[in-house]
Amino acid sequence: MSVINYLLKALLPMLVLLALLPAASLTAMAQEEHAYAKDFDVKANFRNICAFCHQNYGRQEGKGPQLMNSAKTDEELFNRIKNGKPGRMASFGVAFSDDKIWAIVKFIRSLKPDVDPENPS
Ligand code: HEC
Repeated sequence: MSVINYLLKALLPMLVLLALLPAASLTAMAQEEHAYAKDFDVKANFRNICAFCHQNYGRQEGKGPQLMNSAKTDEELFNRIKNGKPGRMASFGVAFSDDKIWAIVKFIRSLKPDVDPENPS
């Protein structure tokens, strides 16, 4: 067996492991539960503030994109709500505390096409 072959055989499992580790920790992060405000009426606030641009509780595209089934991570949704996007969407970090924004993210994640949205419980 050549040296290269030997090295490959010895190192490959380690490389595979190293490649998998970040993916595993990312998955763990994505599943992390954030503390969210349970007494916050997300639905009413969404209707009053967000629905103007995010139609049908974010289940349809309007001036803003559809939010249901977003491919973005929870953190990306959170950051967009907290910090907005200049010229496109206001930032709501002053209006809503972090735990309220996490409640909004939870609400967005629960959206389904044919089910009337509910506040996160
Ligand atoms: C004036 C219109 C407007 C209002 C009001 C508004 N948004 Fe947006 N929102 C947008 C636009 C436009 C984008 C796309 C920004 C971009 O280019 O990334 C967006 C993006 C988002 C995103 C990221 C979605 C994605 O997949 O990129 C989230 C989450 C979001 N809005 C939530 C909210 C919430 C929650 C509210 C109410 C508190 C709200 N928005 C109010 C216009 C609005």
